Amino acid sequence: MTASVQETTILKSFRREPTERTPVWLMRQAGRYQKEYREIREKVDFLTLCKTPELASEVTVMAVRQLDVDAAIIFADILLPMESFGLGLRFEKGDGPVIERPIASAADVERLPSPDAASDLDYVCEAIKITCKELDGNNSVPLIGFAGAPFTVASYAIEGGSSRSFEKTRTFMHAQPEAWNLLMNKLVAFTADYLLAQIAAGAAAVQIFDSWVGCLSPLDFEVYVEPHLRLLISTINGAVPVIYFSTTSAGLLPCISRLGADVIGVDWRVSLGDAWQTIGFDHAIQGNLDPMVLLSDRSTIRRHAEDIIRQADGRPGHVFNLGHGILPGTPVDNARYLVEAVRELSHRR
Ligand code: CP3
Repeated sequence: MTASVQETTILKSFRREPTERTPVWLMRQAGRYQKEYREIREKVDFLTLCKTPELASEVTVMAVRQLDVDAAIIFADILLPMESFGLGLRFEKGDGPVIERPIASAADVERLPSPDAASDLDYVCEAIKITCKELDGNNSVPLIGFAGAPFTVASYAIEGGSSRSFEKTRTFMHAQPEAWNLLMNKLVAFTADYLLAQIAAGAAAVQIFDSWVGCLSPLDFEVYVEPHLRLLISTINGAVPVIYFSTTSAGLLPCISRLGADVIGVDWRVSLGDAWQTIGFDHAIQGNLDPMVLLSDRSTIRRHAEDIIRQADGRPGHVFNLGHGILPGTPVDNARYLVEAVRELSHRR
C-alpha cells in the first residue's frame, strides 16, 4: 500500500482523523443493478467471474469509476471457501447459493480438511494486485478486502444455503458445542490466513461480513461466537483497519464493541447516533442507509442521507454506506446521486 492511499479521506476516517467531508462507498457496488455487469454475466457465470482475476478486477474498478466512490471492494464472495473445504458450491438462478454437501454431524466437522487459504484462493489475491495497480494513481482509491465471519459462513455450511431462522445452525451449536468450536477454529484459521494474504496483496482495509449473526441472543453471541471473532481480529493485529459488519444486531452492539474491530458497520434498523453511542466513540462507524431508499427518488434519498449525516454530528470516524448491499433493482443514477449528495451535505469548511 502506498503513502497516498494512507492519506485518503476514507483511511483517515477509518482511523478517526478529521476529514473535509464524509467518505462513501456502497456494499455490493459491483453487481446486477449495472448494465455493464449483466453484460459480462451473459458471457460468464458468477463463479467463473470470481475466479478470473482480470474480469473480477474489471468489475471492481468499473463500479468505482461509475459511482465515484471513495473505496473499491474486491469482487469475490464470502462463500468461496466452501470449495476449499470440499463442501461444494453452486449458484442457482433465483435460489441463491447451494452448498452441495452440507455439514450435518460432528464427524463431518472432524473430516474437514485444513486447506491453505493463500494458495486455494490465490485468484482473489491476484485480482487484488491487478486492481491496486489500476487504482493507484494521483487520486488513489483504496481497495477493501473481505471475508465472511465464522458464524455466517458456518450457517451456510450447515443449512446448505440461505435460511430464515437458522434452525439447523443454532441447534448444532447448542447440541454439539465441541464440534461447533472445532468448526469455528477451522474457519478462523483459514479466514485469518486468507485476510492476511489479501493484505499482503494490497488491501488497505478488510471487512468481516457477519450478515446473519443478528439471529443470536447476546448470551449465545458471547459463548459461541465472540471468542472466535476476537481471535480472528487479533491476528490482523493492526496491519490495516478491520471493519466488522452485521445486520439486525442492535441488541448485540455492546458485545460487538468488545471484538477489537476498528470500524463497526451497522444497518438501518438502529439509528446511527444511538449505535455510535453504544459502541463508543473510540470506534469508527460505517453505515447505514436502508438500501430500499435507493429505489425511490432524489429528494427522498437526499432527506435520508441528510438525517444520517446529522446523526454522525460532525464527529471524525463516520464512513457513509448502506446498511446492507445494493438491491438488484436499484437505478444506477440513484446510487450515483447518493454519492454526490453525501459529498455535498457533509462538506466542512
Ligand atoms: O461489490 C461488492 O460488494 C463485492 C462483492 C461481493 C459479493 N458478495 C458479490 C456477489 C461481496 C462483498 C459479497 C458478500 C456476500 N456474499 C455476503 C455478505 C454480504 C451480504 O449481502 O449479506 C453474503 C451473505 C454472500 C453470499 C451470497 N452471494 C448470496 C446469498 C448470493 C445470492 C444472492 C444474490 O444476491 O444473488 C451471492 C451471489 C453474489 N455475490 C452476487 C454478487 C454480485 C450475485 C451473483 C450474480 O448473479 O451475478
